Amino acid sequence: MKITITGTGYVGLVTGTCLAEIGHQITCFDIDKEKISLLNEGISPIYEPGLGELIQRNIDSGRLTFSSNPVEAYSNAECIFIAVGTPANEDGSANLSFLEAAAIQIAEQIKKDIIVVIKSTVPVGTNERIGSIIQERVPPNIKIEMVSNPEFLREGTAIHDTFHGDRIVIGANTEEAGKQIGNIYEPLHLPIVHTDIRSAEMIKYASNSFLALKISFINEIANLCEKIGADIDQVSAGVGLDNRIGKKFLNAGIGFGGSCFPKDIHALNYLAKEFDYDFKILQSVIDVNYRQKDLLFYKAKEHFGSLAGKRTTILGLTFKPNTDDIREAASLRIIQDLLLEGAVVTVFDPVAMPKVEKLFGDKISFAVSSEQALVDAEAAFILTEWDEIKSIKLKEIKDKMTEPIIFDGRNCFSLEETKKYGIRYYSIGRPVVQ
Ligand code: UGA
Repeated sequence: MKITITGTGYVGLVTGTCLAEIGHQITCFDIDKEKISLLNEGISPIYEPGLGELIQRNIDSGRLTFSSNPVEAYSNAECIFIAVGTPANEDGSANLSFLEAAAIQIAEQIKKDIIVVIKSTVPVGTNERIGSIIQERVPPNIKIEMVSNPEFLREGTAIHDTFHGDRIVIGANTEEAGKQIGNIYEPLHLPIVHTDIRSAEMIKYASNSFLALKISFINEIANLCEKIGADIDQVSAGVGLDNRIGKKFLNAGIGFGGSCFPKDIHALNYLAKEFDYDFKILQSVIDVNYRQKDLLFYKAKEHFGSLAGKRTTILGLTFKPNTDDIREAASLRIIQDLLLEGAVVTVFDPVAMPKVEKLFGDKISFAVSSEQALVDAEAAFILTEWDEIKSIKLKEIKDKMTEPIIFDGRNCFSLEETKKYGIRYYSIGRPVVQ
């Protein structure tokens, strides 16, 4: 099928490339000309393992093209997927301005009946609204059919998730439209859930909110474990073996970040308020996550009394490993906290340092390796569980730091090992190693 995907962020670019890989003729459209010219050279503007190679392969096969020209992108498309960003407004609601702008641009170009699929995460009712924006602007004989097809891929494992997802959700008003979009995914042989449009929109918010709830819940249990002398890793393992609960998303840590969970739970909370519903659990998920992000900072403050002048090191800046995304990452809050206290901050991350440099400039120092970042440090904070951070030798930490004290937000090391090396070790939901 000849498909145009609007928006070359994580969702649009990965979806477009994977749909090309399974045989469709894809044009990825973006208003950002710089991004499109990079992509035309086969360079991925985002860091996502395996994506660069897959883009190149599909450019070479002739199935994947990139364009910032709306005439070229839309006029011959048989189907249009919209995957533009829906960031949060100040009040927590979803900002739909990119989506509306895309809808207007699409309306200006289409000359025949078409299915417009919204992949972006959008509040319930948005497909109808976007459908009206397009329909109002095209001649009355052209029929616009809207389909909601939310995306469930994760950054860092986006390609794997696309090919091996748990399900594909397709919300449509007519069986025919749902079937047509289902056919696009047929080669993936994944379970397809057909729903009405509003339910499909809700499935996305409910899924992300439930996963966020799981994380905040286990973080609360972890905080309680610390107080009552239990070990969250053992507790999570024991709880997760219950099939009804499941092992996934039970890793306690410094809270969830990224471009999805924080924005989506705020948007759902906002939506609930609009409909006069007090979504108590969701508000707690938000509150717990806010508090969790500062946890390590307060542990350090309690340990040292004052952090003024302390040489601190931060290992890991991204909201999770295998991505260059720092949106809503705990690192940004902790760096800010440490600077306000007058600490000296050195950071290391395998990929995200240029992005963090743009935010903090010369207020902090950037190391070329985790080993270098640890030299003469008085406190080390582990904020992202990158393989190369998890595999640092504890002996190295002991030898390089002035006094080996680790505040680990990802429980990367065993308590026994840190004890063996005489490292003071604060982690999440586990006893402190003194
Ligand atoms: C999340 C969802 O997992 C995807 O299904 C969804 O498609 C995506 O949002 C989206 O809406 O676009 P993503 O934000 O890429 O994906 O990352 P996750 O792997 O879900 O991790 C989110 C955050 O939760 C990270 O900060 C991670 O460190 C944290 N987390 C995750 C924990 O603290 N503990 C866990 O057990 C799992």
